[in-house]
Amino acid sequence: MTEQIDEIANLITNRVLDEVKVGRFYKFIMPNVVLVGEGATIKLGSEVQKLKTKHALIVTDRGITKLGLHGTTVNSLKQAGIEVEIFDAVKPDPDTEVVAEGISFAKGKGIDIVVGLGGGSPLDVAKAIAFLLTNPGSIHDYEGIDLIHNHRLPLVAIATTSGTGSEVTSNAVITDPKRNKKMIISSSALVPDIAVVDPRLTRGIPPKVTAATGIDVLVHAIEAFISKNSITISSALAHRSIMMVTENLPLAVGNGEDMDARHRMAIASLMAGMAFSNVGLGACHATAHQLGTTYKIPHGVANGIMLPAVMTFNSLVCRDRLREVASAMGEPVEGLTDREASLKAIAAVKTLIQEVGLPSSIREVGGSEADFPQMAQYALQDPTLLSNPRQAGLEDLIAIYRLAF
Ligand SMILES: [Fe+2]
Repeated sequence: MTEQIDEIANLITNRVLDEVKVGRFYKFIMPNVVLVGEGATIKLGSEVQKLKTKHALIVTDRGITKLGLHGTTVNSLKQAGIEVEIFDAVKPDPDTEVVAEGISFAKGKGIDIVVGLGGGSPLDVAKAIAFLLTNPGSIHDYEGIDLIHNHRLPLVAIATTSGTGSEVTSNAVITDPKRNKKMIISSSALVPDIAVVDPRLTRGIPPKVTAATGIDVLVHAIEAFISKNSITISSALAHRSIMMVTENLPLAVGNGEDMDARHRMAIASLMAGMAFSNVGLGACHATAHQLGTTYKIPHGVANGIMLPAVMTFNSLVCRDRLREVASAMGEPVEGLTDREASLKAIAAVKTLIQEVGLPSSIREVGGSEADFPQMAQYALQDPTLLSNPRQAGLEDLIAIYRLAF
């Protein structure tokens, strides 16, 4: 038994030290300031003051303004002497039109800082507005990786859901309604200057949304952990995030007033975001983006449906990493082969998704096999696929959709 444990320890150590052995160069980007904790939003004004800006555009949605969740942000900025405008027209799965609307709203007002407040959608729109106000052309010109050349406006991201990790990531996802396609804009220029994670803002979120956004966190953490670009720093963040989601998501779904569980989910989301923003995601997000667009289902729900199928596909090349995922999820893996342990990880993920009440197949959300070739075609072009540990072609992606069906 001891020998077996030593063998596993060696394997893990070798894997984590790969980047050193091969002398790999990498950069790790995070916001300059991360404010974390209950009531962290109160401190925003004094941090923004340090950026020497005077006129903020808050980008959010009507749900937030109706509930008055923007109050603390507005007060904190105003108390620091900063003028505030509010653009609250963002809808879920935001498209190019709402971005254009936000830009015309901002123009001529002397806006010198953009503050995204909300779930992934307002934060993605805030990122898009912040760089489009200082860069030429339309948002379509920036679809892809590292195409933003001019400095964007200073950017703050305040997360009100524990899910997207968008407050710390270098991505924005904006839908092109003409092509019915989610465009991914990925650039280090999109990492906010200041991120705020205030679990108080997540208090009123209903259980279904808590479940979906929480499973999104799990997918971020697992995809970052098994990413072919994974490095020690990202692995540490992702591993801890997987542990925290497994323990705390059922508690936060079961009782939305459990602020300890919500606080830990907010931190897990932040850590998973930092990890995947630097090392990428994988085939789960690539396939889930198209699943979500085609059947109009929330991002986290789509990810939960795809995750077990994608892990099964990937397990052929990363059983050792999935052994660690199983272990982080509390599964006993001692004495198991890597294959057995990786199957435990897949089973644990399925159990968690069922436990929090999310659908576990494409069939359940009314999908049809006839759509898979087109969805796979788009998924193949999704930049998140680039860091998937196993190379996936068109037929593979169709097979993954079938497996999730
Ligand atoms: Fe996601």
